[in-house]
Amino acid sequence: MEGKVCLVTGATAGIGKVCARELASRGARVILVGRNPEKTLNVVQELKRQTEGQIEYLLADLSEQAQVRQLARDLRERTDQLDVLINNAGAVFAKRELTVDGYENTWALNHLSYFLLTHLLLDLLKNSAPARIINVASVGHFQAVIDFANLQGEEHFSLMNAYAQSKLANVLFTYALDRRLAGTGVTANCLHPGVVATDIWSKGAAWTQPFAKVIQKFMISPEKGAETMVYLATSNQLSPDSGRYFDNCKAVKSSKISYNEVLQERLWDLSLQMTGLADA
Ligand SMILES: NC(=O)c1ccc[n+]([C@@H]2O[C@H](COP(=O)([O-])OP(=O)(O)OC[C@H]3O[C@@H](n4cnc5c(N)ncnc54)[C@H](OP(=O)(O)O)[C@@H]3O)[C@@H](O)[C@H]2O)c1
Repeated sequence: MEGKVCLVTGATAGIGKVCARELASRGARVILVGRNPEKTLNVVQELKRQTEGQIEYLLADLSEQAQVRQLARDLRERTDQLDVLINNAGAVFAKRELTVDGYENTWALNHLSYFLLTHLLLDLLKNSAPARIINVASVGHFQAVIDFANLQGEEHFSLMNAYAQSKLANVLFTYALDRRLAGTGVTANCLHPGVVATDIWSKGAAWTQPFAKVIQKFMISPEKGAETMVYLATSNQLSPDSGRYFDNCKAVKSSKISYNEVLQERLWDLSLQMTGLADA
């Protein structure tokens, strides 16, 4: 990975942090995206001690579109090269709450931030081709539909429905993006990391916490959970592969509905509007 520049969102914890460490230890210049200045700086220092790699950071709360746009500008001031973009930051939300832009938190962070950041960095990726876009989705997308009438829990909100729907959106976005990237030398893939013992499980409703603590013992480690994203970022065998969903470092089938191109395009158009890109 020497000479490669990688941007990893959600790199202050969980699988994103492990992935950043692995890429740095393979020689890449890794730019972590965090939202809490103190926590992010501590992680950067920890990873530098562990890898002696070239590790930098940028700050953004990715649920706010103005901050996503500022992040893209900040990145451009640092580099005109981007070989790997890893959209990984994600969360669950116990209650329905809106961001400053007026979008439900899960939808804003888990889907709209991937969509907006990728668009804002697309020219950088194309100029750096061969380049890779990696979207961290979830096996949870198999349970989901895109419910346009209740997209942001307006009628009824459930943490699991909102999360699974946002992860289906990651897969639909990846496939629609892949079509548009044909011939550019930029690939777009998505993945399920496994069921991983990370902080994400502590963000549910309070009553689920004792249960979450028990089941975490049966989950895989963040090191194991990061393997598929590291594989997608680094593998030499992968380069022709694009528009695929990976699990356990292998391309596998995603849910039937995720291949529906009409749905992919409907979501694409709506996402353009919701991120203000339709007016650009
Ligand atoms: N864990 C699993 O079993 C599992 C399974 C399938 C898919 N996934 C996916 O894997 C990805 C990473 O999750 P994880 O399990 O590693 O979770 P995690 O340990 O909770 O890490 C989430 C990361 O996202 C960051 N983040 C959260 N909200 C943010 C915001 N508003 N702006 C910027 N960054 C924000 C967090 O920053 P802070 O450190 O500041 O909180 C943290 O770095 C997610 O997309 C998740 O959906 C996880």
